[in-house]
Amino acid sequence: MPHILSAKQFSKGDLERILSLAREMEDDLKKGRVKKVLQDKIIACIFFEASTRTRLSFETAALRLGAQVISAENAFENSSASKGETIEDTVKILCNYADALIIRHPESGIMERAAKVAAKPLLNAGDGTNQHPSQGLLDLYTIKKELKRLDNLKIGFGGDLLKSRTVRALLDFMRLYENNKFYFISHKELALPRKIIQELAESGVQFIETENLEGTLPELDIIYLTRVQKERFSDPQEYEKVKDLFIFKKDHLKILKPEAIIMHALPKINEIEKEVDQDSRAAYFREAENGLYVRMALLCYALGV
Ligand code: NCD
Repeated sequence: MPHILSAKQFSKGDLERILSLAREMEDDLKKGRVKKVLQDKIIACIFFEASTRTRLSFETAALRLGAQVISAENAFENSSASKGETIEDTVKILCNYADALIIRHPESGIMERAAKVAAKPLLNAGDGTNQHPSQGLLDLYTIKKELKRLDNLKIGFGGDLLKSRTVRALLDFMRLYENNKFYFISHKELALPRKIIQELAESGVQFIETENLEGTLPELDIIYLTRVQKERFSDPQEYEKVKDLFIFKKDHLKILKPEAIIMHALPKINEIEKEVDQDSRAAYFREAENGLYVRMALLCYALGV
């Protein structure tokens, strides 16, 4: 059963299949001819962390395909987790009710535990700082749609690389394609963990780490910005110290290639000056729209229809 737990689990062949299915979903939806291939299916969305795009686009995807949705948002308070139930017990029970489970949780790695007891496909909608495969896929879809290729790209990841799960997911996908080069742009306090850097180096991935946004921007085909992950700081003062260190300003647009794109998983807080939204290279709202098509494709993929 294809659980979708991590970007690391996919081959290039799988990705091609999902991306072309997403393309079909987009065309069908725009022409008003989506087939209700998930009729009679029930999808459960259980979110232990806040979400706007991920939960609501998954729910919309399920409804568009004819499925019905049961959901618990704010699940630490609104489910038996508040009484101390383990994730394993919750998942076991929900598999009796629903045909697929979509779960978001603040604990990194918890989906592996949940998957061990899941009798139905489990889709990871973000686990702590670890993974967010559906976001990585919609980012991949966006890159393919906007730049017409997934290889030979110079991709800058900027901001909170220490805790961003969307960076990890997209990086895992983009390193599968030939001759991509990565620029990790952040202050030391928010750099990628050394363990990840070491693994990239050992695998021969081309990358550099830098604090210099201005010096790097003119090189890039993609600048992927991130929110400083406030909710993952145990000390609020530590967050205050780093929250404004990295800001993409409207003046940065002048040194960005005319054909480059600016990406962000959203929500954005103050890491992008609001004038940037008007620039045609700002792809983040289009990226969020693509989430619907990609999640429709993912539900079909996971449910084998
Ligand atoms: C991201 C997440 O939850 O990791 N949001 C999303 O799913 N679009 C990014 C973030 O919250 O900063």
